[in-house]
Amino acid sequence: MTSFVVNGGRRLSGSLVCQGSKNSALPILAATYLVNGKSVIHNCPRLSDVESTIKILENLGCKVERRSNDLVVDSTSANGYEIPESLMREMRSSVIFLGAILAKTGKAVISAPGGCEIGLRPIDLHLFAMRKLGVTISEEHGRLECFVNKKLKGAKITLTFPSVGATENAILAAAVAEGTTTIINAAREPEIIDLCDFLNKCGARISGGGESIIVIDGVKKLSATEHTVICDRIAAATYLFAGAVTGGDVSVKNTVPAHLGGILPVLEEAGCTVSVRCDEIRLKAPLKLNRIDKLITQPYPGFPTDAQAPIMVLTTLARGTSVIVENIFETRFKHVPELLRMGAKIRTEGRVAVVDGVERLYGASVVSPDLRGGSALVLAALAANGITSVSEIKHIDRGYENFEKNLCMLNADIVRMTKNYANTKEK
Ligand code: UD1
Repeated sequence: MTSFVVNGGRRLSGSLVCQGSKNSALPILAATYLVNGKSVIHNCPRLSDVESTIKILENLGCKVERRSNDLVVDSTSANGYEIPESLMREMRSSVIFLGAILAKTGKAVISAPGGCEIGLRPIDLHLFAMRKLGVTISEEHGRLECFVNKKLKGAKITLTFPSVGATENAILAAAVAEGTTTIINAAREPEIIDLCDFLNKCGARISGGGESIIVIDGVKKLSATEHTVICDRIAAATYLFAGAVTGGDVSVKNTVPAHLGGILPVLEEAGCTVSVRCDEIRLKAPLKLNRIDKLITQPYPGFPTDAQAPIMVLTTLARGTSVIVENIFETRFKHVPELLRMGAKIRTEGRVAVVDGVERLYGASVVSPDLRGGSALVLAALAANGITSVSEIKHIDRGYENFEKNLCMLNADIVRMTKNYANTKEK
C-alpha cells in the first residue's frame, strides 16, 4: 500500500510552476486519434489518467511516444473502434473517446462506464448528442454498440445540462460531420476552449468555444498539429489552498488567472490576500481564516466541483460556520468522514455540508476516497498537528503531477511510503 506520510504544522512558502491541465489533455489526446498524422502535444502532465489514455490510443492503433513533457501521437494507420472494458474501468472519462472514434471509423464499441466514487455519472447526454448527429446506439450486457448511419450529419443539440464530457464528445463528432452543428447550453469550461483551439489548428471550423452556444461547420478532413495544453486550474488552486491552510505565502506560476475567476474571490472572502501578476498568482494567508458564508459548486465560471473538497479544508480551520453545497455530483462528500477523524466538525445532509471551524486539526490515518478528496486530505495533513498517513494515493496520482515534490519545494514535510506506515513505525 502506498501512502503519503505528512508531518504537519509547517508554514508553506515559495513558488512553483503549474502543471498542464488533466481535463484538457484527456479530450485533446482523444482528438489526436481523430486527426490525420502526427500530433505533438506539449505540456502534457505525467499522470496515471494520461497513462490510461495512452493505453487506449495504443489499443486503437496509434503510436505514442513521450518526450519529456510532450506526447507525440501518430494516428496515421490507426483504425480501432473498440475500447476494452478493462480500459474503460481504469478511467471513467474514457467515454470522451466516443465522438472521436465514431467520427474516424463510423462505429464504436465501448462499455457503459457506470457510477464512480463521486456519483452516478450517467452518459445519457453523450448518447443523446451522438444520436442527434446520426448515430444508432444499442446496449446489451453493459456494452454499447454504436454505428453511424451513412454519415455523421450536423444537427442542433440542446443539452439539458452543460456537461463537460458531452460537449466535448459532440464537438469531436461534429467537427467532421456533414453540415453545421449548433450546441446549445454547451459547457463553458476553459478546457472546452482548449479542445476547440486544438481542433481549429487542425483545420476544424468551430466558433463559440467557451460560450453557451457553439457552432461547428463540419470539414472533410483534420490534419495533425502541435499544441500546448493550458495550465491545470484545479492543481493551481490546490497549491494556493495549501498556502492558505498553513498560514503560508505561496505563488503559482504559468497559470491563466482568469481561469480561477470562480475561486480567487472565495479565497479573499476567507481573508487571504491574492495578487496576480501576468501568469503568476500569489496567496498570502491571514493569521486566522474567515468562514465562507455559502459556497455552491456550479458549472464554469462558477466555483468548480473539483475544488470543493480541497476548499472544505480551509473552512474546517476558519473562524465561524461555513456552508458548502455540492451542486454537480451526488456523492462528492466522501472526504468528510476522513476529515472528521482529523478533528474537523462537519455535518452533511444530502448535498449540503455545514462546517464549524475548529482551532486545529490533528494527525490521523486516513484513506483517500477519490482524486480531489485525496488532495483535500493531504492539505488537512499539512495543516494538522502531528503525523498523518493518507493511503490509497493512487487516486491523487490520477490528477497531480509531482504532488509531494511540489509540496516539499514549498517547505512541506511529506514523503511517499510504499509500506504500511504503522509497520514502518514498529520496526
Ligand atoms: C468533467 C471532468 C471532471 C470534472 C467534471 C466537473 C473531464 C474529462 N472530466 O467530468 O474531472 O470533475 O467535469 O468539472 O474533463 N451528467 C449527466 N448525463 C451525462 C453527463 C453528465 O447527467 O450524460 C451529469 C453528471 O452526472 C454530473 C454533471 O452532469 O452530475 C456534470 O458532469 P460533466 O460536466 O459531464 O462532468 P464530466 O465531463 O464527467
